[in-house]
Order: sequence, then structure tokens, then C-alpha cells
Amino acid sequence: MSQLVSIDTSEGVRTIRWNRPEKKNALLREMYTAAAEAIETGETDREVRVFVLGGTPGLFTAGNDLIDFMEAPPHIGGSGDMPPVERFMRALMTAKKPIIAEVDGLAIGIGTTLLMHCDLAYASDNAAFKTPFVDLALAPEFASSLYFPARLGRSAASDLLMLGSTWDAARAKEAGLIADVFPSAEISSEVRKRALILATKSPGALRTAKALMQAPEEPAEDRMAREGGLFAEMLSSPEFAEAAAAFMERRAPDFSKFG
Ligand code: COA
Repeated sequence: MSQLVSIDTSEGVRTIRWNRPEKKNALLREMYTAAAEAIETGETDREVRVFVLGGTPGLFTAGNDLIDFMEAPPHIGGSGDMPPVERFMRALMTAKKPIIAEVDGLAIGIGTTLLMHCDLAYASDNAAFKTPFVDLALAPEFASSLYFPARLGRSAASDLLMLGSTWDAARAKEAGLIADVFPSAEISSEVRKRALILATKSPGALRTAKALMQAPEEPAEDRMAREGGLFAEMLSSPEFAEAAAAFMERRAPDFSKFG
């Protein structure tokens, strides 16, 4: 494990933190590889129920390390070995377990792009979001040209992707980029609180809800039928049996034996 990325697993939560504050947590290939491995192995580890992705106090990330980037320009979706940044982003995009982003401070470039691929994002009141790709004469990345307009609206997306504006936490919350804002001193504990709540929920139900929200758009009738089929199927699952028994017995459900 690279020391440039700290990985800790406890109480069902795997926390992955960029840890290169002297370079504003700018991301090197080895950091992407370490974080990708942490997600990939966590996906098959029953002890891991939820991921948290964060940085160091007051600093999420300044994005790709521009020197490393120029040394080995990644060819995303190309033939040959998959670049570490692509491996990391694919791990994030395809994870079936919930991922929470904890943004304390700067989130530049991929630091903002990756939020589109997390299930929940929280920020501190000193967060700053910026995607300066046009300023660097580069293109948007990892489907942000699709997700930003779809989720934030075309105008807000262009404010980030074309104008290169810096958004503070309030603006990011208003636009729906993040779920909530906390004081910097409290963000880690607030995120942890929520991660622990997710870690106790039915893993099957979380997987299903996530997969549905990630599925490509379809007519509402089709989606309703798909949800209905899953709902009926899940009514006979052992996880529902546990939820129902807990309700009848007036106790908290225990989903710890389900993976
Ligand atoms: N790649 C490589 N090194 C980076 C970096 C990046 N993306 N961001 C910061 N650093 C390095 C700086 O070169 C500096 O290194 P040094 O101490 O050896 O000179 C160190 O981190 C501290 O950065 P500095 O610029 O002195 O801090 P600052 O507080 O004045 O500014 C930023 C911080 C993040 C606003 C500024 O560094 C910046 O704009 N970085 C580039 C962001 C970017 O364009 N990301 C890529 C998107 S694709």
C-alpha cells in the first residue's frame, strides 16, 4: 500500500484518503493504483460495506499531478495497458457498494469530476470546486460532459466546464453537486456518522437501489416494471425476512450476516 494513500477499514467502512499534502494532494499514478486496489478488494470483502473517499485536513485534491500526467499522458479507453487513472475511475464507477466523498478544501479537476461517480458527496465550508480543463486547453473527462449537464443543468455545467468558475460549498450544494455542508472541523465525523448508518443497512437493498440509480435512462413504465419485479423478488429474500422480523419484534434489524 502506498503511503501517499492511507487506507483504513473499521466497523464496515473502508476509508481511502489522498495523503500528499505537500503537493496539495495532487494525484500520481501510484496513488490511483493504490486507491483502485482498495476499492476492488473492498468490493469482494464482506467486512467492507461502505467506502469513504477523502483527503487530508483542509485539502481534498488539486487533481492530476501535472508533471506525472505529462510524463505519461493517459489514453483513456485506448488499447494497451489501462492507465492507473482509468483503473481508479472504473473502480469508482462500477463499485456496487456505496461510496461517500468527503471534500474538505480544494477539489480541482478530477477531484470534482469524480463526485459524479460517488453516491453521496459532502463538503466542508471551505471547499472549492473547479474543473479547469478548458483553461488548460484540455477536454472534460470521465463522462463529466454527460453527467454535469444532466445533473446540474446545462448552464451550471458550462459555468464549471467552460468558464472554469470556482464554486464554493454553498454554490455546490445549491446546484446539487453535494448533499450537504459542514464546518471543516466536523466534516470527517459527520461523514463517518453517515457511513456507519449505511454500513448497518441491508447490503442487498443498497446494491439494488444503487444499480437502479446507475442504470441508463428508460421510459418510466419500463422502470416501474423493473422496480416492481425487484420489489416482488426481494419480498422473499432473507434480508427482508430479517427487516420484517425486526419490525415485529421492535428491535433494530441485524444485516451483519448478509454480504
Ligand atoms: N500537479 C502537480 N503539482 C501540484 C499540483 C498539481 N496539480 N497542484 C499543486 N502542486 C504543487 C505545486 O507545484 C507546489 O509544489 P512546490 O512546493 O514543489 O513548488 C505545491 O503543490 C504547493 O502548491 P502551490 O501552488 O504552491 O499552492 P497554492 O496554495 O498557491 O495553490 C493550487 C494551490 C492547487 C490552487 C495550485 O497549486 C494549482 O492551481 N494547482 C494546479 C491545479 C490543476 O490545474 N490541476 C489539474 C487539473 S487537470
